[in-house]
Amino acid sequence: MINAKITGIGGYVPEKIYDNAYMESIVDTSDEWIVRRTGVKERRISADDEYTTDMATKAAKKALENAGLGAEDIDLIILATVTPDYFTPSCACVVQRNIGAVNAAAFDYNAACSGFVTGLIIAKQFIQTGMYKNILIVCADTLSKATDYTDRATCVLFGDAAGAAVVSASEEEGIMTTDMGADGTGALSITSLAYRNDDEEIEKRVAHRKDTIWMAGQAVMKFAVKAMADASNKVVREAGLTWDDISLVVPHQANYRIVDSAIKRMGITEDKVYLTLEKYGNTSASCIPVALSEAVEKGRIKKGDNIVLVGFGGGLTWGAALIRW
Ligand code: UT7
Repeated sequence: MINAKITGIGGYVPEKIYDNAYMESIVDTSDEWIVRRTGVKERRISADDEYTTDMATKAAKKALENAGLGAEDIDLIILATVTPDYFTPSCACVVQRNIGAVNAAAFDYNAACSGFVTGLIIAKQFIQTGMYKNILIVCADTLSKATDYTDRATCVLFGDAAGAAVVSASEEEGIMTTDMGADGTGALSITSLAYRNDDEEIEKRVAHRKDTIWMAGQAVMKFAVKAMADASNKVVREAGLTWDDISLVVPHQANYRIVDSAIKRMGITEDKVYLTLEKYGNTSASCIPVALSEAVEKGRIKKGDNIVLVGFGGGLTWGAALIRW
């Protein structure tokens, strides 16, 4: 069996920062509420003329450099976003052009915040069948452009970022056990409208804007804790390992309370968890690759380490992967 392994990783965040003092100045909130209920202190915000594919291209280039590959070595680009520049072309095709990946097929997919782990699972299939050798996964979102900054329940949570990884055929073990799933009964718990003209959905939005994200926060939180814990426990168990064998967990960074409750169900403590939540907030699918990239740079991850990546998000969806670095 051919193994699929992450051979390069890269992250990008824009320079502009909205800190909690700024959030206090635009909505009825407080630093104390935001930190206690979410754990977020700052979020990064894209420039007015900086779009999803611009950030995606920067992260993609970093991942390629980190993998020591040229763009022409990539066979497939898959890109996860809920804030695409266009419905067509796909953002993946724009990134393919921007980096000059002339040999790559390219498509976008939508698993919301579960996008990175879903991408690893997609990449693993293409590699294990022998169809492709090098796949570039890119996760990028300009959530700030889809955020209603009059809605205090959502605007304090989101930020912008992009993260990318190269997954290659390898003799070494890489992406080991995985789990992904969906619960469409919760489909309307997080919504962002496309062509659907749905009065009920539009009325839910504070400013009645069609183009913003709406969320039933509590319902998502309840789903997230169970989904993250169950999926993580499953990938560890199915690998024949225990939590003692796992060096680090890199979770989706939506809310500190979600992470805290989920890790209690896994029976682990926070020293095994890598968090970027405080400085970037929830950046959708890019949370995990941005955090992973930073953890590698900071020496928190070493060759041979077993790492659990776990995400959840709109759909509702979830995904977990146990990877060997
Ligand atoms: O990536 C995946 C997607 N999303 C998530 O994972 C989000 C999951 N959900 C959450 O993180 C939390 O549900 C939130 C952070 C969104 C909200 O926290 P909560 O503890 O569930 O608060 P709540 O919605 O029950 O609201 C409690 C109170 C309400 O006031 P009243 O009705 O009790 O007077 C809200 O209006 O907190 C109020 N509130 C705020 N107060 C100050 C909501 N947002 C704010 C705010 N500042 N920013």
